[in-house]
Amino acid sequence: METIEKIKSHYDFTSGDIKNLMSLKPVMEKYRDEFVFEFYNYVRNFEDTHKFLKDEATVKRHQEALKAWFIKLFDGDYGAFYLKDLGKVGMAHVKINLPAHYVNAAFHFVKRFTHDIIHKEIAGHEERVFLERSVEKILEINLDAFTSSYIEEEKKFFLSQEVESYLIQLANRYSHGLNLTLVLGLVVLGVMVMGLFVYDIMHIMDGNIEKGLLSTLGSLLMLWVVIELMDTEIKHLRGGKFAIKVFISVALVAMIRKILVTSLKSDAVEAQISLVAAVAVLGVVYWLVSKVDQ
Ligand code: HEM
Repeated sequence: METIEKIKSHYDFTSGDIKNLMSLKPVMEKYRDEFVFEFYNYVRNFEDTHKFLKDEATVKRHQEALKAWFIKLFDGDYGAFYLKDLGKVGMAHVKINLPAHYVNAAFHFVKRFTHDIIHKEIAGHEERVFLERSVEKILEINLDAFTSSYIEEEKKFFLSQEVESYLIQLANRYSHGLNLTLVLGLVVLGVMVMGLFVYDIMHIMDGNIEKGLLSTLGSLLMLWVVIELMDTEIKHLRGGKFAIKVFISVALVAMIRKILVTSLKSDAVEAQISLVAAVAVLGVVYWLVSKVDQ
C-alpha cells in the first residue's frame, strides 16, 4: 500500500489545496443533510441498492457515516490516519461485496454535487475553478483509497496467482465441456423420443387406438421436455441465468405422462390419486418459483 505522502504527491495535492478545502468547510456544512438526501436519491436507482442498504438501522448508520465522511473532506487533516480511515471504509464495502462500480458511480454523484454547490455559492470564475480543482483532488484520493481496498482483496491467494488462475481456467473449460456433453446427450435423447413417438403411432395403426393415442400424447410431452431442456441449456451456455423452473416442469410432465399411462388400467385408482396429488404439489412449487422469478 502506498503512503499518504506518496499519494498526495501523485495527485499534486499541495498546502494550497488544504487551504482551499478548509475554506469550503463552512459552505459545505450547510449542505450536509442535503448531501445525504441527494446521495440516497441517486444510489436508489441502482438495481441492488436495497440488498446492501437492507434495513432502516443500516440506512441510518450509513447516512451518519456518510455525513461524517463528507465533512471530513474539508477538515484539512489528511495524514496517515485519514488514509487508514479511508481504507476502513473501502474494506467495509468490500466485505459486503458491494460492486466497485457502485462506489465509482456514487463518486460521480459526489463530484457533481460539490461542483453545483461551488457554482451556487462562490462568486468569480477563477476562484471557482481554483476551489473545484482542490475538491476534485481530494475526491480522487478518496476513490483511489476505496479502489485499493478492492484490489487488496483480489490479491489474496491461497497458493499463487498463476496457479489459481490456471486452476480456475481449467475448471471453467471442464465445466464448458460438460455442458456441451449435456447438449449432445439431449440431442441423442431427442432422437430416441422421436423413435418412441413413431412406435406409439404404430399402436394406433395396430387398432389399439386408445392406448396408441395416450402413449403418443405421452411421447409428445417428453419431446416437449427435451426441447425445453435443450433451450435452457443453450441459454445457459450463452451466459443466461440457470432456470430451475425447467426441472419442475420436467417432473410435472413425467407425472402427467404416468397419469396418462395408468389411466388405461381400471384397477390403478390408488396409484392415480397419488399421482394427481404429486402433480398438485409440483404445480404449487412451479407457481411459487415463477412468482419468485418475477
Ligand atoms: C461515495 C461513495 C460512498 C461513500 C463515501 C460511503 C461511505 C461509507 C462509510 C463512511 C461507511 C462506514 C464504514 C465503517 O463502518 O467504517 C460505509 C459503509 C457502508 N456503505 Fe457506503 N459509501 C459509499 C457508497 C455506498 C454505496 C453506493 C452503497 C450501497 C448502494 C453503500 C453501502 C454501504 C453499506 C451497506 C455499509 C455498511 C453499513 C453498516 O452496516 O454499518 N455505500 N459507507
